[in-house]
Amino acid sequence: MQENLLDQMRRAVDQLSYIHTAGRVIGVSAGTVHSACTQGETRVGDRATLHTAAGKRMAEVVKLDQVGAHLLVDGATDGVSINDPVVFQRAPIFAPHTGWIGRVIDPDGRPLDGQPLLPGAQNGDLNRSPPSSHERRGLGARLETGLAVFNTLLPLVRGQRVGLFAGSGVGKSTLLADLARGVQADVIVIALVGERGREVGHFVQDVLGADGMGRAVVVAATSDTGPQVRRRCALSAMVVAESFRDAGLHVLLLIDSVTRFCEAHRELAVASGESANLRGYPASTGPAIARLCERAGPGAGASGDITAVFSVLVAGSDMDEPVADMLRGVLDGHIVLDREIAERGRFPAVDVVRSVSRALPDAANEKENEIIAKARSLLGTYVRSEMMVQAGLYVSGSDPLLDAAIAAQPALEDFLTIKDTRGTMAHFAKLRQAIASSPMRPDAQAGAGF
Ligand SMILES: Nc1ncnc2c1ncn2[C@@H]1O[C@H](COP(=O)(O)OP(=O)(O)O)[C@@H](O)[C@H]1O
Ligand SMILES: [Mg+2]
Repeated sequence: MQENLLDQMRRAVDQLSYIHTAGRVIGVSAGTVHSACTQGETRVGDRATLHTAAGKRMAEVVKLDQVGAHLLVDGATDGVSINDPVVFQRAPIFAPHTGWIGRVIDPDGRPLDGQPLLPGAQNGDLNRSPPSSHERRGLGARLETGLAVFNTLLPLVRGQRVGLFAGSGVGKSTLLADLARGVQADVIVIALVGERGREVGHFVQDVLGADGMGRAVVVAATSDTGPQVRRRCALSAMVVAESFRDAGLHVLLLIDSVTRFCEAHRELAVASGESANLRGYPASTGPAIARLCERAGPGAGASGDITAVFSVLVAGSDMDEPVADMLRGVLDGHIVLDREIAERGRFPAVDVVRSVSRALPDAANEKENEIIAKARSLLGTYVRSEMMVQAGLYVSGSDPLLDAAIAAQPALEDFLTIKDTRGTMAHFAKLRQAIASSPMRPDAQAGAGF
């Protein structure tokens, strides 16, 4: 992949988008501008620059009709007036390059870290189709994750797509950063959709840190950008992931969050005339989520795989919330983080009982599956009776299974916080020890009522 700088620069110039049409503003409403323009050249998705008295405004074409183009303006439409000139140009070429590793870019492939950035040779298609299902491989081997809970109870395998569901401030972004540092992968691609600018800087510098950034590409669209930019953020990150996958690499793609992707999609869909349905999202949202998720997953032929984690903001613990509901159907597992667990200071605040990895039972051997089943049973039993136990209403000795669960609880809670690189085997040994701290020994299962 060595090529000289001059070739790279020549390509960057070739790939510049050109101005093709000019028009004038003929109507303005909240967020959208109607512009008269020559029909033939303009396409949905083209960019537009509005030259207003207050300066330039950027916009994107979301709808075309007989009169002209409907534009969605980045930010507010204040100051735009009738007859302001509008210049249209094609969307910039988005061509990922291996040199993007370690960099923070915007969804148009421009650097956000103040350093020059060169495009690659291949223009990525933001709306590319997923590999055909009959050519795709099945899920791959279990991955080391650096976190005991994901090495054992909720395994992550190559090509798996999982959702990470939690309320705000429960630890989604921190967990994604842990995965970015710990999961065995060649490249990590992270989409930060709609975070505040300050949060992007904090995430990159403090949460992800230099060791996380060393093999990561971060694509960020801050909350002050227009919905078209925020929606494109997830798609651009997918294009970056696909380019590395096509080169035969194993990519870990982290999208934080799909909820913001959907909110941006809703704003765009409503601006282009689609109506929101009863649950607040237009009908095209489900297919948009499905298309995005399907593009991640195992590759075909000589290409690598994209293992993906999609974070979803759920209000309270409402897993029937529309985005969570739409997403769950297209995933191979879900991780639920719980606010009460976070509040008592146990991180990652994974609610193991409500989380599922569909990679099981195949991802673990028979012995490991036995350990997992026992640990889940102990955790589940404790959760079901926790209130009674804590209120002092439980008389020890009346239920042997609950006695075992109570005895194992402290060791299991400790186990769930383990974050180190000792690996799956060592973590299974730890988990075995934790469940052995219950009177019901892990290898004395027969007749134990599990
Ligand atoms: N692994 C962790 N260890 C310690 N504190 C954590 C951990 N994960 C989250 N937190 C705490 O929770 C806060 C919110 O975490 P964050 O990942 O930003 O949540 P979210 O992305 O779900 O909004 C953090 O600022 C930190 O105080
Ligand atoms: Mg967050």
